[in-house]
Amino acid sequence: MDIQDIKNRFGIIGGSPLLNRAIDIARQVAPTDMSVLITGESGSGKEVFSHIIHQLSTRKHGSFIAVNCGAIPEGTIDSELFGHEKGSFTGAHEARKGYFEVANGGTIFLDEVAELPLGTQARLLRILESGEYLRVGSSKVQKTDVRIVAATNVDVYNRVKSGKFREDLYYRLNTVPLRIPALHERKEDIYLLFRKFSADFSDKYRSPGIQLEPDAIQMLSNYSWPGNVRQLKNIAEQICVLEKDRNVTSAALLNYIPNESATNLPMAISSNNKEDFTERDILYKVLFDMKKDMMELKKLVAEIIQSGGNTSHIMADNPHYINQLYQEIDETRAEPTFTIKKPSQSAPVDYNYTQEAEEIEESLSLIDKESDLIKKALKKHKGKRKFAAQELGISERTLYRKIKELNLN
Ligand SMILES: Nc1ncnc2c1ncn2[C@@H]1O[C@H](COP(=O)(O)OP(=O)(O)OP(=O)(O)O)[C@@H](O)[C@H]1O
Ligand SMILES: [Mg+2]
Repeated sequence: MDIQDIKNRFGIIGGSPLLNRAIDIARQVAPTDMSVLITGESGSGKEVFSHIIHQLSTRKHGSFIAVNCGAIPEGTIDSELFGHEKGSFTGAHEARKGYFEVANGGTIFLDEVAELPLGTQARLLRILESGEYLRVGSSKVQKTDVRIVAATNVDVYNRVKSGKFREDLYYRLNTVPLRIPALHERKEDIYLLFRKFSADFSDKYRSPGIQLEPDAIQMLSNYSWPGNVRQLKNIAEQICVLEKDRNVTSAALLNYIPNESATNLPMAISSNNKEDFTERDILYKVLFDMKKDMMELKKLVAEIIQSGGNTSHIMADNPHYINQLYQEIDETRAEPTFTIKKPSQSAPVDYNYTQEAEEIEESLSLIDKESDLIKKALKKHKGKRKFAAQELGISERTLYRKIKELNLN
Protein backbone atom coordinates (compact mmCIF):
# COMPACT_ATOMS: atom_id res chain seq x y z
CA MET A 1 0.00 0.00 0.00
CA ASP A 2 1.53 3.35 -0.90
CA ILE A 3 1.32 6.50 1.14
CA GLN A 4 -1.59 7.95 -0.84
CA ASP A 5 -3.60 4.73 -0.37
CA ILE A 6 -3.01 4.93 3.36
CA LYS A 7 -4.18 8.55 3.41
CA ASN A 8 -7.34 7.63 1.53
CA ARG A 9 -8.07 4.64 3.68
CA PHE A 10 -7.57 6.39 7.01
CA GLY A 11 -8.91 9.81 6.02
CA ILE A 12 -5.59 11.52 6.47
CA ILE A 13 -5.33 14.93 4.87
CA GLY A 14 -2.08 16.68 4.06
CA GLY A 15 0.93 16.38 1.84
CA SER A 16 3.75 17.93 3.83
CA PRO A 17 7.06 16.03 3.79
CA LEU A 18 6.99 15.61 7.59
CA LEU A 19 3.54 14.01 7.50
CA ASN A 20 4.49 11.77 4.58
CA ARG A 21 7.59 10.68 6.44
CA ALA A 22 5.55 9.75 9.52
CA ILE A 23 3.13 7.73 7.39
CA ASP A 24 6.04 6.01 5.71
CA ILE A 25 7.55 4.99 9.05
CA ALA A 26 4.16 3.71 10.25
CA ARG A 27 3.77 1.70 7.06
CA GLN A 28 7.21 0.12 7.39
CA VAL A 29 6.97 -0.72 11.07
CA ALA A 30 3.36 -1.95 11.02
CA PRO A 31 3.99 -5.53 9.81
CA THR A 32 6.82 -6.07 12.30
CA ASP A 33 5.96 -6.79 15.90
CA MET A 34 8.11 -3.98 17.24
CA SER A 35 6.89 -1.65 19.94
CA VAL A 36 6.30 1.86 18.70
CA LEU A 37 6.34 5.04 20.75
CA ILE A 38 4.31 7.73 19.04
CA THR A 39 5.13 11.24 20.17
CA GLY A 40 3.46 14.47 19.18
CA GLU A 41 1.56 17.42 20.57
CA SER A 42 -2.01 17.13 21.69
CA GLY A 43 -4.43 16.71 18.80
CA SER A 44 -1.73 16.05 16.21
CA GLY A 45 -3.00 12.60 15.20
CA LYS A 46 -1.26 10.06 17.44
CA GLU A 47 -4.36 7.93 17.84
CA VAL A 48 -4.97 7.91 14.09
CA PHE A 49 -1.46 6.55 13.61
CA SER A 50 -1.98 3.82 16.21
CA HIS A 51 -4.89 2.56 14.07
CA ILE A 52 -2.78 2.61 10.94
CA ILE A 53 -0.13 0.49 12.63
CA HIS A 54 -2.66 -2.06 13.87
CA GLN A 55 -4.62 -2.23 10.63
CA LEU A 56 -1.54 -2.70 8.48
CA SER A 57 -0.16 -5.41 10.76
CA THR A 58 -0.67 -9.16 10.70
CA ARG A 59 -2.75 -8.66 13.85
CA LYS A 60 -5.44 -6.68 12.05
CA HIS A 61 -8.04 -9.41 12.72
CA GLY A 62 -7.15 -9.46 16.41
CA SER A 63 -8.46 -6.91 18.88
CA PHE A 64 -7.24 -3.36 19.19
CA ILE A 65 -7.65 -1.96 22.69
CA ALA A 66 -6.92 1.68 23.43
CA VAL A 67 -6.14 2.43 27.05
CA ASN A 68 -5.81 5.98 28.34
CA CYS A 69 -3.21 5.46 31.04
CA GLY A 70 -3.68 9.00 32.33
CA ALA A 71 -7.38 8.51 32.98
CA ILE A 72 -7.28 5.32 35.09
CA PRO A 73 -6.74 5.79 38.84
CA GLU A 74 -3.48 4.42 40.15
CA GLY A 75 -5.30 2.01 42.44
CA THR A 76 -7.10 0.15 39.65
CA ILE A 77 -4.75 0.35 36.71
CA ASP A 78 -2.97 -2.96 37.38
CA SER A 79 -6.25 -4.76 37.68
CA GLU A 80 -7.56 -3.19 34.47
CA LEU A 81 -4.46 -4.03 32.49
CA PHE A 82 -3.57 -7.43 33.95
CA GLY A 83 -6.82 -8.63 35.49
CA HIS A 84 -7.43 -9.81 39.03
CA GLU A 85 -8.50 -12.87 40.98
CA LYS A 86 -11.72 -13.08 42.91
CA GLY A 87 -11.24 -11.63 46.40
CA SER A 88 -7.86 -10.07 45.59
CA PHE A 89 -9.05 -6.73 46.99
CA THR A 90 -12.19 -5.33 48.59
CA GLY A 91 -14.86 -5.24 45.94
CA ALA A 92 -13.26 -7.90 43.72
CA HIS A 93 -16.32 -10.16 43.83
CA GLU A 94 -15.45 -11.88 40.58
CA ALA A 95 -12.24 -12.64 38.76
CA ARG A 96 -11.73 -10.28 35.86
CA LYS A 97 -9.71 -10.51 32.68
CA GLY A 98 -7.31 -7.67 32.03
CA TYR A 99 -6.80 -5.90 28.71
CA PHE A 100 -3.59 -7.83 28.11
CA GLU A 101 -5.51 -11.08 28.28
CA VAL A 102 -8.40 -9.83 26.14
CA ALA A 103 -6.07 -8.38 23.52
CA ASN A 104 -4.11 -11.64 23.14
CA GLY A 105 -3.16 -11.83 19.46
CA GLY A 106 -3.93 -8.15 18.94
CA THR A 107 -2.60 -4.70 19.75
CA ILE A 108 -2.82 -2.55 22.86
CA PHE A 109 -2.55 1.19 22.44
CA LEU A 110 -1.22 2.75 25.64
CA ASP A 111 -2.15 6.40 25.35
CA GLU A 112 -0.49 8.91 27.69
CA VAL A 113 1.98 6.20 28.61
CA ALA A 114 4.16 8.61 30.62
CA GLU A 115 1.43 8.64 33.28
CA LEU A 116 1.86 4.95 34.17
CA PRO A 117 2.77 4.42 37.84
CA LEU A 118 6.19 2.86 38.45
CA GLY A 119 4.75 -0.44 39.68
CA THR A 120 2.73 -0.84 36.51
CA GLN A 121 5.79 0.05 34.47
CA ALA A 122 7.61 -2.93 36.01
CA ARG A 123 4.77 -5.29 35.05
CA LEU A 124 4.68 -3.85 31.56
CA LEU A 125 8.40 -4.34 31.12
CA ARG A 126 8.00 -8.00 32.01
CA ILE A 127 5.28 -8.44 29.39
CA LEU A 128 7.42 -6.74 26.79
CA GLU A 129 10.37 -8.94 27.57
CA SER A 130 8.74 -12.31 28.00
CA GLY A 131 5.01 -11.97 27.36
CA GLU A 132 4.52 -12.99 31.01
CA TYR A 133 2.37 -11.32 33.64
CA LEU A 134 0.52 -12.05 36.87
CA ARG A 135 -3.08 -11.19 37.56
CA VAL A 136 -3.49 -9.02 40.65
CA GLY A 137 -3.81 -11.38 43.62
CA SER A 138 -2.38 -14.39 41.80
CA SER A 139 1.05 -15.94 41.60
CA LYS A 140 0.29 -18.00 38.53
CA VAL A 141 2.29 -16.78 35.55
CA GLN A 142 0.12 -16.07 32.50
CA LYS A 143 1.24 -15.60 28.95
CA THR A 144 -0.01 -13.25 26.32
CA ASP A 145 0.99 -12.19 22.83
CA VAL A 146 0.27 -8.51 22.46
CA ARG A 147 1.87 -5.82 20.36
CA ILE A 148 2.30 -2.52 22.16
CA VAL A 149 1.90 0.86 20.58
CA ALA A 150 2.30 3.70 23.06
CA ALA A 151 1.78 7.43 22.75
CA THR A 152 2.67 10.51 24.69
CA ASN A 153 2.58 14.26 24.32
CA VAL A 154 5.20 14.85 26.98
CA ASP A 155 8.93 14.27 26.75
CA VAL A 156 9.20 10.81 28.34
CA TYR A 157 12.94 11.10 28.54
CA ASN A 158 12.50 14.03 30.91
CA ARG A 159 10.44 11.69 33.09
CA VAL A 160 13.27 9.19 32.93
CA LYS A 161 15.69 11.84 34.13
CA SER A 162 13.43 12.77 37.02
CA GLY A 163 13.01 9.13 38.05
CA LYS A 164 9.33 8.94 37.13
CA PHE A 165 9.73 6.63 34.18
CA ARG A 166 11.91 3.52 33.99
CA GLU A 167 14.77 3.95 31.60
CA ASP A 168 14.74 0.28 30.54
CA LEU A 169 11.03 0.51 29.73
CA TYR A 170 11.59 3.74 27.82
CA TYR A 171 14.14 2.09 25.52
CA ARG A 172 11.99 -1.01 25.17
CA LEU A 173 8.90 0.97 24.15
CA ASN A 174 10.83 3.35 22.00
CA THR A 175 12.20 0.60 19.74
CA VAL A 176 10.78 2.60 16.86
CA PRO A 177 10.12 6.28 17.58
CA LEU A 178 7.39 7.83 15.47
CA ARG A 179 7.03 11.58 15.75
CA ILE A 180 3.85 13.18 14.46
CA PRO A 181 4.60 16.72 13.31
CA ALA A 182 2.68 19.56 14.91
CA LEU A 183 0.40 21.53 12.65
CA HIS A 184 2.58 24.63 12.77
CA GLU A 185 5.38 22.54 11.28
CA ARG A 186 3.23 21.72 8.25
CA LYS A 187 1.60 24.99 7.43
CA GLU A 188 0.94 23.87 3.88
CA ASP A 189 -1.57 21.35 5.24
CA ILE A 190 -3.63 23.81 7.26
CA TYR A 191 -5.84 25.17 4.51
CA LEU A 192 -6.26 21.71 2.99
CA LEU A 193 -7.47 20.37 6.32
CA PHE A 194 -9.78 23.33 6.83
CA ARG A 195 -11.37 22.83 3.41
CA LYS A 196 -11.95 19.16 4.06
CA PHE A 197 -13.38 19.68 7.55
CA SER A 198 -15.60 22.60 6.56
CA ALA A 199 -16.93 20.65 3.56
CA ASP A 200 -17.68 17.66 5.82
CA PHE A 201 -19.45 19.83 8.39
CA SER A 202 -21.43 21.69 5.73
CA ASP A 203 -22.63 18.29 4.57
CA LYS A 204 -23.41 17.16 8.07
CA TYR A 205 -25.36 20.30 9.00
CA ARG A 206 -26.76 20.80 5.49
CA SER A 207 -25.44 24.34 5.46
CA PRO A 208 -23.97 26.27 2.50
CA GLY A 209 -20.21 25.88 1.93
CA ILE A 210 -17.65 28.13 3.57
CA GLN A 211 -15.20 30.20 1.51
CA LEU A 212 -12.16 31.78 3.09
CA GLU A 213 -10.98 35.16 1.81
CA PRO A 214 -7.22 35.31 1.09
CA ASP A 215 -6.55 37.31 4.27
CA ALA A 216 -8.38 34.64 6.29
CA ILE A 217 -6.32 31.86 4.68
CA GLN A 218 -3.21 33.81 5.59
CA MET A 219 -4.36 34.17 9.20
CA LEU A 220 -5.20 30.48 9.44
CA SER A 221 -1.73 29.55 8.22
CA ASN A 222 0.05 31.92 10.56
CA TYR A 223 -1.77 30.84 13.68
CA SER A 224 0.23 28.59 16.05
CA TRP A 225 -2.44 25.86 16.51
CA PRO A 226 -1.53 24.67 20.01
CA GLY A 227 -4.40 22.15 19.81
CA ASN A 228 -3.30 21.03 16.34
CA VAL A 229 -5.66 19.16 13.99
CA ARG A 230 -8.31 18.69 16.67
CA GLN A 231 -8.46 22.44 17.28
CA LEU A 232 -8.63 23.15 13.55
CA LYS A 233 -11.47 20.67 13.20
CA ASN A 234 -13.39 22.27 16.09
CA ILE A 235 -12.97 25.71 14.62
CA ALA A 236 -14.11 24.56 11.18
CA GLU A 237 -17.21 23.13 12.83
CA GLN A 238 -17.94 26.31 14.78
CA ILE A 239 -17.58 28.45 11.66
CA CYS A 240 -19.85 26.13 9.70
CA VAL A 241 -22.53 26.36 12.33
CA LEU A 242 -22.25 29.99 13.40
CA GLU A 243 -21.06 32.16 10.49
CA LYS A 244 -23.88 33.87 8.63
CA ASP A 245 -21.66 35.32 5.95
CA ARG A 246 -20.24 32.22 4.24
CA ASN A 247 -17.38 34.30 2.80
CA VAL A 248 -15.17 34.41 5.83
CA THR A 249 -12.70 37.28 6.23
CA SER A 250 -9.80 37.51 8.65
CA ALA A 251 -11.89 39.86 10.78
CA ALA A 252 -14.61 37.21 11.09
CA LEU A 253 -12.00 34.56 11.80
CA LEU A 254 -10.82 36.54 14.80
CA ASN A 255 -14.01 35.47 16.57
CA TYR A 256 -12.70 31.92 16.50
CA ILE A 257 -8.95 32.09 16.81
CA PRO A 258 -7.07 34.40 19.15
CA ASN A 259 -5.14 37.24 17.59
CA GLU A 260 -1.65 36.24 18.60
CA SER A 261 0.06 39.31 17.28
CA ALA A 262 -1.96 41.27 19.83
CA THR A 263 -0.70 39.25 22.77
CA ASN A 264 2.66 39.92 24.33
CA LEU A 265 3.87 36.35 23.93
CA PRO A 266 6.60 36.12 21.33
CA MET A 267 4.68 33.57 19.27
CA ALA A 268 6.56 34.44 16.14
CA ILE A 269 9.58 32.53 17.40
CA SER A 270 9.37 29.21 15.71
CA SER A 271 9.49 26.39 18.18
CA ASN A 272 9.38 22.69 17.52
CA ASN A 273 7.47 22.05 20.65
CA LYS A 274 4.76 24.37 21.93
CA GLU A 275 4.67 22.47 25.18
CA ASP A 276 8.32 23.36 25.78
CA PHE A 277 7.75 26.87 24.68
CA THR A 278 5.03 27.66 27.18
CA GLU A 279 6.94 25.98 29.98
CA ARG A 280 10.00 27.93 29.02
CA ASP A 281 7.92 31.05 29.17
CA ILE A 282 6.91 30.37 32.77
CA LEU A 283 10.47 29.56 33.70
CA TYR A 284 11.68 32.86 32.27
CA LYS A 285 9.08 34.70 34.31
CA VAL A 286 10.16 32.86 37.44
CA LEU A 287 13.83 33.37 36.78
CA PHE A 288 13.45 37.09 36.17
CA ASP A 289 11.48 37.52 39.37
CA MET A 290 14.01 35.51 41.30
CA LYS A 291 16.91 37.44 39.86
CA LYS A 292 15.29 40.70 40.89
CA ASP A 293 14.68 39.35 44.40
CA MET A 294 18.24 38.10 44.65
CA MET A 295 19.71 41.44 43.62
CA GLU A 296 17.63 43.22 46.20
CA LEU A 297 18.54 40.74 48.90
CA LYS A 298 22.23 40.97 48.04
CA LYS A 299 22.06 44.74 48.25
CA LEU A 300 20.35 44.49 51.60
CA VAL A 301 22.82 41.98 53.01
CA ALA A 302 25.76 44.08 51.80
CA GLU A 303 24.33 47.15 53.50
CA ILE A 304 23.76 45.24 56.72
CA ILE A 305 27.32 43.95 56.68
CA GLN A 306 28.68 47.41 55.94
CA SER A 307 26.74 48.88 58.79
CA GLY A 308 28.07 46.23 61.17
CA GLY A 309 24.66 44.67 61.71
CA ASN A 310 22.89 47.88 62.52
CA THR A 311 19.76 47.85 60.42
CA SER A 312 17.87 50.87 61.66
CA HIS A 313 19.01 53.18 58.84
CA ILE A 314 18.29 50.47 56.28
CA MET A 315 14.80 50.18 57.72
CA ALA A 316 14.40 53.94 57.43
CA ASP A 317 15.72 54.08 53.85
CA ASN A 318 13.72 51.15 52.46
CA PRO A 319 10.44 51.07 54.36
CA HIS A 320 8.49 49.90 51.35
CA TYR A 321 10.83 47.07 50.49
CA ILE A 322 11.12 45.90 54.08
CA ASN A 323 7.35 45.89 54.48
CA GLN A 324 6.95 43.91 51.33
CA LEU A 325 9.56 41.48 52.59
CA TYR A 326 7.63 40.91 55.79
CA GLN A 327 4.44 40.46 53.86
CA GLU A 328 6.03 37.80 51.68
CA ILE A 329 7.52 36.11 54.70
CA ASP A 330 4.07 36.06 56.29
CA GLU A 331 2.60 34.54 53.17
CA THR A 332 5.11 31.73 53.11
CA ARG A 333 5.00 31.11 56.85
CA ALA A 334 3.27 27.80 56.26
CA GLU A 335 6.38 26.68 54.42
CA PRO A 336 9.87 26.27 55.94
CA THR A 337 10.48 29.08 58.39
CA PHE A 338 12.61 32.01 57.44
CA THR A 339 14.21 33.25 60.59
CA ILE A 340 14.15 36.99 60.36
CA LYS A 341 12.53 38.24 63.52
CA LYS A 342 10.30 41.21 63.01
CA PRO A 343 12.11 43.77 65.18
CA SER A 344 10.52 46.01 67.68
CA GLN A 345 10.85 49.56 66.36
CA SER A 346 14.40 50.19 67.59
CA ALA A 347 15.91 46.76 68.16
CA PRO A 348 18.35 45.54 65.50
CA VAL A 349 17.18 42.68 63.32
CA ASP A 350 18.45 39.32 64.46
CA TYR A 351 19.88 37.82 61.29
CA ASN A 352 21.13 34.32 61.37
CA TYR A 353 23.33 34.32 58.30
CA THR A 354 23.89 30.62 57.72
CA GLN A 355 20.29 29.79 58.20
CA GLU A 356 19.27 32.62 55.94
CA ALA A 357 21.50 31.29 53.20
CA GLU A 358 19.88 27.89 53.54
CA GLU A 359 16.41 29.30 53.48
CA ILE A 360 17.12 31.33 50.38
CA GLU A 361 18.25 28.08 48.71
CA GLU A 362 14.87 26.61 49.61
CA SER A 363 12.87 29.35 48.03
CA LEU A 364 14.95 29.18 44.89
CA SER A 365 13.50 25.82 43.99
CA LEU A 366 11.89 26.14 40.56
CA ILE A 367 9.34 23.55 41.51
CA ASP A 368 8.26 25.59 44.52
CA LYS A 369 8.07 28.72 42.42
CA GLU A 370 6.14 26.92 39.76
CA SER A 371 3.61 25.48 42.15
CA ASP A 372 3.32 28.88 43.84
CA LEU A 373 2.53 30.51 40.52
CA ILE A 374 0.00 27.83 39.68
CA LYS A 375 -1.67 28.08 43.09
CA LYS A 376 -1.86 31.85 42.79
CA ALA A 377 -3.35 31.68 39.32
CA LEU A 378 -5.92 29.09 40.42
CA LYS A 379 -6.83 31.16 43.45
CA LYS A 380 -7.16 34.30 41.40
CA HIS A 381 -9.50 32.56 38.97
CA LYS A 382 -11.42 30.76 41.69
CA GLY A 383 -10.22 27.34 40.60
CA LYS A 384 -11.20 27.83 36.94
CA ARG A 385 -8.37 25.99 35.19
CA LYS A 386 -9.09 27.44 31.80
CA PHE A 387 -8.50 31.01 32.92
CA ALA A 388 -5.64 30.09 35.21
CA ALA A 389 -3.92 28.36 32.28
CA GLN A 390 -4.46 31.42 30.10
CA GLU A 391 -2.96 33.67 32.73
CA LEU A 392 0.04 31.37 33.11
CA GLY A 393 0.49 31.19 29.37
CA ILE A 394 0.27 27.40 29.24
CA SER A 395 -2.31 25.06 27.79
CA GLU A 396 -5.10 23.75 29.99
CA ARG A 397 -3.75 20.29 29.46
CA THR A 398 -0.27 21.25 30.63
CA LEU A 399 -1.82 22.90 33.67
CA TYR A 400 -3.80 19.76 34.38
CA ARG A 401 -0.66 17.68 34.14
CA LYS A 402 1.28 20.04 36.38
CA ILE A 403 -1.44 20.01 39.02
CA LYS A 404 -1.17 16.26 38.99
CA GLU A 405 2.62 16.21 38.98
CA LEU A 406 2.98 18.75 41.74
CA ASN A 407 0.15 17.23 43.75
CA LEU A 408 -1.73 20.49 43.94
CA ASN A 409 -5.20 19.01 44.07
N1 LIG B 1 -3.81 14.37 9.06
C1 LIG B 1 -5.08 14.34 9.48
N2 LIG B 1 -6.09 14.42 8.60
C2 LIG B 1 -7.37 14.41 9.00
N3 LIG B 1 -7.76 14.34 10.28
C3 LIG B 1 -6.80 14.24 11.20
C4 LIG B 1 -5.41 14.24 10.85
N4 LIG B 1 -4.69 14.14 12.00
C5 LIG B 1 -5.57 14.11 13.00
N5 LIG B 1 -6.84 14.15 12.54
C6 LIG B 1 -8.06 14.22 13.35
O1 LIG B 1 -7.77 15.12 14.41
C7 LIG B 1 -8.34 14.66 15.64
C8 LIG B 1 -7.27 14.48 16.66
O2 LIG B 1 -6.45 13.37 16.32
P1 LIG B 1 -5.97 12.30 17.40
O3 LIG B 1 -7.05 11.98 18.36
O4 LIG B 1 -5.34 11.17 16.69
O5 LIG B 1 -4.86 13.19 18.13
P2 LIG B 1 -3.93 12.80 19.36
O6 LIG B 1 -2.55 13.16 18.95
O7 LIG B 1 -4.18 11.40 19.77
O8 LIG B 1 -4.43 13.81 20.47
P3 LIG B 1 -4.28 13.74 22.09
O9 LIG B 1 -2.83 13.96 22.40
O10 LIG B 1 -5.09 14.87 22.55
O11 LIG B 1 -4.78 12.40 22.51
C9 LIG B 1 -9.10 13.40 15.28
O12 LIG B 1 -10.43 13.75 15.02
C10 LIG B 1 -8.42 12.91 14.01
O13 LIG B 1 -9.29 12.17 13.22
MG1 LIG C 1 -5.03 10.68 21.59
